Amino acid sequence: MATAEKLYFPSHQRKLLDPYLPDPHGPFPEDRPWITLTYASSLDSKVSAGPGKQTVLSGPASKAMTHYLRTKHDGILVGSGTAITDNPGLNSRLSDAIDAPNALALQPRPIILDRRARWIPQDSKVVDLSRGGRGKPVMVFTGLPAEDPSNLCEHADHGGDGFDYCPYVDFLKMLVALKSNGINSIMIEGGATIINSILSDYAHLIDSVVVTYAPVYLGDQGVGVCPTRPLPKFEKATWLPMEDDVVMCAVPKR
Ligand SMILES: NC(=O)c1ccc[n+]([C@@H]2O[C@H](COP(=O)([O-])OP(=O)(O)OC[C@H]3O[C@@H](n4cnc5c(N)ncnc54)[C@H](OP(=O)(O)O)[C@@H]3O)[C@@H](O)[C@H]2O)c1
Repeated sequence: MATAEKLYFPSHQRKLLDPYLPDPHGPFPEDRPWITLTYASSLDSKVSAGPGKQTVLSGPASKAMTHYLRTKHDGILVGSGTAITDNPGLNSRLSDAIDAPNALALQPRPIILDRRARWIPQDSKVVDLSRGGRGKPVMVFTGLPAEDPSNLCEHADHGGDGFDYCPYVDFLKMLVALKSNGINSIMIEGGATIINSILSDYAHLIDSVVVTYAPVYLGDQGVGVCPTRPLPKFEKATWLPMEDDVVMCAVPKR
C-alpha cells in the first residue's frame, strides 16, 4: 500500500481555529452532534466548476487545515453527489493522525447521505481506507425503511467490511441516531446540495462555520452556495490568511 502524504498544520493557526471547534471534553449539544459546516468556495461562491465536476479549490495550507478539522470531529458527512463525483477518502492525513499510537482513534467516522442508494462501495477510496486500517467504516444513510425509527443504526445492516447501511428517515432523526452511536461532533463538508439544504433548512443547528475562500472565479457554469430565506447570519468572525486562500471561521448569530 502506498504511503500516505503527511500534512502539517502549524500550532499558531490551530490556536486561532480551536475556539470555533468542538471541545473534545465537551459539553456537546444533548440531543444531536455539534455541527461544523465547512467547505471551500471560489470568489463567486461556487464549490465546483459544474455539476459532477471535481474541482480543487483549497491550496496546500488550507488543505492541511481541513485535515486538522477532520481530527477534531467524530464524524465527517458528505452527500451522495460528492461521494460519487469525488470518491473522497474522508480520513485525515494530518501528521498527528498518521503518527499517533492511537492513530485510528483520531480518524473521523465517514457518513454518506444517500437516500436513493446511488453510491456504490466497490472501488471506493473511503471503503479501501477503512479496510486498510487508515479510516473508520463508513455509515451510509439510505432510504431503506426503518422498522423502528427509535432504533436507527443500532440495527444498521452491516453492508460489508468497511461500510454500514443505516436507514434514513429525516435529517433530525439521523442526527439523533449519530448521537446515540457516540458521535458527538460532525463536520459537514459538502457538496452544494447538502450545504444549501443545511443553510436553508437547518441553520439553527449549525454550531460553527469554517469556509475557505480561494482567489479564483468558477463562472456561471459553476455549482454554487446560495441558500433560501430566511438567510442565516454569522458573527464573531476570524479571517485567517493561508497562503493564497483566506479561511473564515464564525458562529451563527442567534
Ligand atoms: N468546494 C467544496 O468544499 C466541496 C466539498 C464537497 C463537494 N464539493 C463538490 O460538490 C459537488 C457535489 O455536490 P452535489 O450537490 O452534486 O451533491 P451532494 O450535496 O454531495 O449530495 C447531494 C445528495 O445528498 C442527499 N441530500 C442532500 N440534502 C439532503 C438532506 N437535507 N437530507 C437528506 N439527504 C440529502 C441527496 O441524496 P438523494 O438524492 O439520494 O436523496 C442529494 O442528492 C461535486 O462537484 C463536488 O466536487 C465541493
